[in-house]
Amino acid sequence: MGNLEQLDKVVEEAEKELNAIDDLNLLQQKKANYLGKKGVVAQMMSNMRDLTVEARKEIGMRSNRIKELLEAKFEEKRKAIEEAIISKKLQSESIDVTLPGVHLPIGGIHPLNQTIMELEDLYIGMGYKVAEGPEIETDENCFEKLNLPKGHPARDMQDTFYISPELLLRSQTSPVQVRTMLEEEGKPIKIICPGKVYRRDADDATHSHQFMQCEGLVLGKNITLADLKGALLEMAKKMLGEDREIRLRPSFFPFTEPSVEVDVSCGLCNGKGCPTCKNTGWIEVLGAGMVNDNVLRMSGYDPKEIQGFAFGIGVERLTMLKYRIDDIRNFYTNDIRFLNQFKEVK
Ligand code: DAH
Repeated sequence: MGNLEQLDKVVEEAEKELNAIDDLNLLQQKKANYLGKKGVVAQMMSNMRDLTVEARKEIGMRSNRIKELLEAKFEEKRKAIEEAIISKKLQSESIDVTLPGVHLPIGGIHPLNQTIMELEDLYIGMGYKVAEGPEIETDENCFEKLNLPKGHPARDMQDTFYISPELLLRSQTSPVQVRTMLEEEGKPIKIICPGKVYRRDADDATHSHQFMQCEGLVLGKNITLADLKGALLEMAKKMLGEDREIRLRPSFFPFTEPSVEVDVSCGLCNGKGCPTCKNTGWIEVLGAGMVNDNVLRMSGYDPKEIQGFAFGIGVERLTMLKYRIDDIRNFYTNDIRFLNQFKEVK
């Protein structure tokens, strides 16, 4: 075969081989076979040494063109393979947006947290701030500075979990009053403090060893029991219904003087008397009172200058009244059928 025919044959063969390739590595190998330093084209060009000048010129030009032609063909093939790879990948990764979605149930806000959020909204609207304190408290903040010295009989009202003689799990949110007074150093205060508290109680329908309270403290000039009554009546109406009334009964707490127990008119019988309110027409919801002078003094306040009131709402009790729940343990046993009833989006 003459040299020129040989060249044409090379192109033909290369084209045939290219058609069969669909893999980039193989393509690279084949390209080296044809166009590499020791490839078919290079070898053919080196065979020209023995030819006449004329023939060399002719074949040289042809083989250069063929080289360019082959390079273009290999490049074209490379692009085609790459495109095929991409479109295969796209196809395998394509998403059918018309398929129905997987249903992931959304959680809801726990009813106790809902009550706390409502209380916060309500009191923030009346100018209160929300204060916080730790659940592990000192005996001093939880009792001594609230006018409950060691050995005081009223400590029996709250069976407390002690960690050491000086440290305990707070049995009430009242120590946040002390913390805030010590921070504010004699300045007026208007706070609520919601949070968890702990007591050594056996769990039953109305007792839990861990529950929640929302404390309130207002200190300023000329604050009276009438202001306390106003703050609590507003709360009772907003939380339990506009037609609710409250009444104050004398009581005792070491940190308040006078102290009161606050009842709300029964929502089931509208105050007429029924089994829920034990035929009294009233249901006890919280303790409150005017802050005891000793408590003010112990945390740096002068009772002649500043006085005020405090209250402690039982969050479970309020929530149970609001939704007519008859067992406090429902809040803590995580029964999804119970909790789902309080979800806004079902
Ligand atoms: N700390 C009291 C309790 O746990 C509730 C309470 C009563 C809080 C009267 C107060 C208050 O701030 O003034 O039973």
